[in-house]
Amino acid sequence: MLIVGNWKMNGLIETAQELADGIVAGLGARSGRSLPCEVVLCPPATALLTVHQRLDGSVVKLGGQDLSEHESGAHTGEICGIMLRNVGCRHVIVGHSERRADCGEDDAKVARKMAAAFRDGLQPIVCVGETLNERERGATLEVIGAQLAALVPYVPRELTRRQTLVVAYEPVWAIGTGRNAELEQIREVHGFMRRQLEEAFGADAARMRLLYGGSVKPANAGSIFGLEDVDGGLIGGASLKSAEFLAIIDAVPEKF
Ligand code: 13P
Repeated sequence: MLIVGNWKMNGLIETAQELADGIVAGLGARSGRSLPCEVVLCPPATALLTVHQRLDGSVVKLGGQDLSEHESGAHTGEICGIMLRNVGCRHVIVGHSERRADCGEDDAKVARKMAAAFRDGLQPIVCVGETLNERERGATLEVIGAQLAALVPYVPRELTRRQTLVVAYEPVWAIGTGRNAELEQIREVHGFMRRQLEEAFGADAARMRLLYGGSVKPANAGSIFGLEDVDGGLIGGASLKSAEFLAIIDAVPEKF
């Protein structure tokens, strides 16, 4: 299981430090072994270095929220994978629906960014998901299928434990709305994604991780994480309060 906190555009240095300290302290005496999941925090870029320093010596890992598809050069305002590695990141979120909507990132660009993350030694966490309009007209699986298909040619042949495909299913209508998808809807999409990945990658698909994101809270986390083909969560709002985030981690079933 993998639990990722996406802080989005929240947190100045002081609040980021406090939040990171609260999470590390809360995980406290638990060793990496007894923790039922891997935990990754994705602060805004300006707080990455300071959060990296606060996480030093803990089991919690650091991730970026986006990266450039380019290696370096004249791309004002962009941050490349090597720079993320340089401030301690091992992971990076790619293709979040907010970036798809705000920055016009299409499936092809998301796939190139994922390839850049693999190239630069980062673990990409690629977001997919349908809008409310797409769900209402019955196009959910078609949309998710196309988003996944765009990734397939860019996934390296040789995957490792540290670099595999991680996909986060985040229905756009469930993000920040308090309205999370019903368990049956999550089960349907996650099962569909696993089958798509099996068709593309065979036995390797079993080791790829499928996260759910969208209004995950302590109250609903346990039932979502208990679903087959759900290998963790991508948490937005509830990752901004250490107590809520820790309660979500506590909801991870012991079997993992
Ligand atoms: P919320 O948990 O706030 O709905 O956000 C989900 C998300 O977008 C995580 O990337």
